[in-house]
Amino acid sequence: MRDAQPNTKYLKDYTAPAYWIDHTELTVELFDDYTDVTAQLRIRRNDELDAAGSLTLDGQELELLSVALDGNTLSAEQYQVGDESLTLSGLGDQHLLTIRNRIYPQNNTALEGLYRSGGMYCTQCEAEGFRRISYYLDRPDVMSEFTTHIIAADGQWPVMLSNGNKIADSVMEDGRRRVSWHDPFPKPCYLFALVAGDLRVLEDTFTTMSGREVALQIFVEPQNIDKTEYAMDALKRSMRWDEEVYGREYDLDVFMIVAVDDFNMGAMENKGLNIFNSSCVLANPATATDSTYLRIEAIVAHEYFHNWSGNRVTCRDWFQLSLKEGFTVFRDAGFSADMNSATVKRVEDVQMLRTVQFAEDGGPMAHPVQPDSFIEISNFYTVTIYEKGAEVVGMLHRLLGEEGFRKGSDLYFDRHDGQAVTIHEFVAAMEDANGIDLSQFKLWYKQAGTPVVEAASSYDADAQTLTLTLRQHTPDTPGQTDKQPLWIPLALGLLDAAGNDMPVQVEPAEAWTASSQVLHLREAEQTFVFHNVSERPELSLLRHFSAPVKLEYQQSPEQLLFLLQHDTDGFNRWDAGQKLMLHWIEQARSGSFSLSDAEQTALVSLLQDDQLDKSMLSYLLNLPSESYVAEFSAPVDPAAIHHARETVRLAIANTLLPHLAERYQQLQSPVAYQPEPQQMAQRALKNLVLSYWALVSSDGVTAAQAQFEQADNMTDQMAALLSLVNYGSDEQADAALASFYQQWQHDTLVVNQWLSVQAGSSRRATVASIEQLLQHEAFDWRNPNKVRSVLGVFANQALVSFHQSDASGYALLADAIIKLNGINPQMASRLLTPLTRWKRLIPELSALMRAQLERIQSQEDLSKDVYEVVSKSLS
Ligand code: ARG
Ligand code: ZN
Repeated sequence: MRDAQPNTKYLKDYTAPAYWIDHTELTVELFDDYTDVTAQLRIRRNDELDAAGSLTLDGQELELLSVALDGNTLSAEQYQVGDESLTLSGLGDQHLLTIRNRIYPQNNTALEGLYRSGGMYCTQCEAEGFRRISYYLDRPDVMSEFTTHIIAADGQWPVMLSNGNKIADSVMEDGRRRVSWHDPFPKPCYLFALVAGDLRVLEDTFTTMSGREVALQIFVEPQNIDKTEYAMDALKRSMRWDEEVYGREYDLDVFMIVAVDDFNMGAMENKGLNIFNSSCVLANPATATDSTYLRIEAIVAHEYFHNWSGNRVTCRDWFQLSLKEGFTVFRDAGFSADMNSATVKRVEDVQMLRTVQFAEDGGPMAHPVQPDSFIEISNFYTVTIYEKGAEVVGMLHRLLGEEGFRKGSDLYFDRHDGQAVTIHEFVAAMEDANGIDLSQFKLWYKQAGTPVVEAASSYDADAQTLTLTLRQHTPDTPGQTDKQPLWIPLALGLLDAAGNDMPVQVEPAEAWTASSQVLHLREAEQTFVFHNVSERPELSLLRHFSAPVKLEYQQSPEQLLFLLQHDTDGFNRWDAGQKLMLHWIEQARSGSFSLSDAEQTALVSLLQDDQLDKSMLSYLLNLPSESYVAEFSAPVDPAAIHHARETVRLAIANTLLPHLAERYQQLQSPVAYQPEPQQMAQRALKNLVLSYWALVSSDGVTAAQAQFEQADNMTDQMAALLSLVNYGSDEQADAALASFYQQWQHDTLVVNQWLSVQAGSSRRATVASIEQLLQHEAFDWRNPNKVRSVLGVFANQALVSFHQSDASGYALLADAIIKLNGINPQMASRLLTPLTRWKRLIPELSALMRAQLERIQSQEDLSKDVYEVVSKSLS
């Protein structure tokens, strides 16, 4: 155990910096074994503060070479070097501070700061990585104009990039090359980026709404140049969409994207120079699946949208992270919904919210969208900050309407352009632009935990009224009790017996769409009375998932089936189906499950439906995942969930069997692969059909074998591989995996998918097989994508294999975390997530998991990242 406990930082302790850094001139000299950094900082005393002329800069793992003030080198007595700081005192109002230090990018396995990935140099500075490059005020409220010079042996790194516009490129007297960049927009150092490598580039242009031409460039390692087209297309569509929907125009002459293989997260919005995990940007039909294409489209948009929501207006401190992340996720979701099916996008987002975010909100790491404390900020790049944050912005959109929301966002961008602000300013702009008081609404940012809304209804045939009573409460979370009622917008509709929306209104509610209305639940309990209700209606509550809550409302399987068949709200059709399936799984657990005739008929007609979007159909026919089911059961018994779910799957497949071969044939497409919505939808349904077919019939396995051999695109090849691995004979599965590896071993991103197929298969993944994958030549502890593909997928998806009753699955994960703690603390900490759920498991498993957490806690030299999650999980 560590003796000095890491400090907790509190939002309430925020103070402005003692100095500003108006200009930063950075010279980065790349040598083979080290890199020298010279920072020339124009500092100015913050006269709002009664500053004592003392300045403490952040720095981590830096070898300090020299410090000079206004050109005079200081002696070592004139400053103090701490473990992670450099302090100067006796300063005046303004100075030029020059600091030289040395770093070792090739030894940087944490992938924060400047590091080597494959054949190139790259950076990741958010949140606190810049302090590993140079001593600095590494906090987002210090915004500085950057000039960057990159120097290296001439010819060594043909491409040398930084933020902004290139201003000079020449060979110096000593024969080295020097490339200079200038970014006219002041920015916090977390948005700094630098890249050097032997890279190829795809180029294009975009003309902005005011007629300026912007150069667009995507840089990749040479072997990947044929995988850049789709990202470029997505980028141009994002730029256009942000102009049309938010009135936001791009502001520099060039916009660059660089793909790197070793990256902790998805991507990073550095000003003018986005850096991407290669898995979130590279694609061609042969190597990327449809879901990869959709992910690329969303992430390219997300990072681009940050140019306004994040860069032009940034965060004052890291407690405000959701200011940029929640808003930007909301923006990218709007973009994806417009490019594809809005209903399907909503279903996907809610699936993720319910399985991952609700679990986080109900566990030891629960925190508000605006947290009030943290130990390590990297641990707070969470689904709560991102996805719940986006839901909160979505509710604002629902409350204010399209136009009101746009007025608010315009005001926010105008008012705060060039500033570092807080969530309060965002909400205030929405309030001021709309003349509305959102004080109660702001509790969504302050209170952690998923609110529960209980609904009860009664119909009075004589009075023709429907009474709906809604009650809300938010459970206690670590450090937070006695929560206040929230402002919850609840969209709903009433269906008549034929499945049509009834045109009934209730006071005080407002029309939302032609067929739905929104109730505003603002108290702990409220009753709403609907008048002139001519027949007993079926209620469709929480349409489009209008608020991130758990809704408790009693509905029989017959009522759910009715909604699945008739609801006019696409999201609620899906949701009713999922509730019905959860009910089936529940019955299967108690040994009393069979599908009724009506249920079987409904399944078959869904399979054969040719009205609905096929992607939607594939969601309607698909069972909730095991982790989704786990969220709806307590205590969690993973093996029981798995077996019950398999029982239901088998029953569905057998019900559909007479029609599967025909439907599969119908869904084949003669047209060449395109990553476009309609084709994607058709493939999604076809491949779902294939998986049911292969589950219950050897003809299905044969079809999977043929598809595997003939596929000209990865979507079909991967789907076939999954069917063979999970439902083929052992020989078929082995052969398919071997031939797939043979075919793709030189493509690291495809190999990641190959690893995931094995690690996530309940049938194939055993502790021994995971250990083998960790020994495989394709595995690399230093590459986060590989770690996620094997360990992340195993622990989060192969639930029966992970939750072994001898604790071997937990021990394997704990060993990996202990190992990664020394290599890459962020990765180690992320892998802990499944272990934080120990309290929800059945007692025998719970104790075993806890023991592994204790074993991790007892290690020497725990990183702050791991320490925080482990200690909170055990407290
Ligand atoms: N701002 C980035 C994004 O969401 C995420 C970067 C987070 N990086 C980290 N090391 N925690 O677009
Ligand atoms: Zn982001």
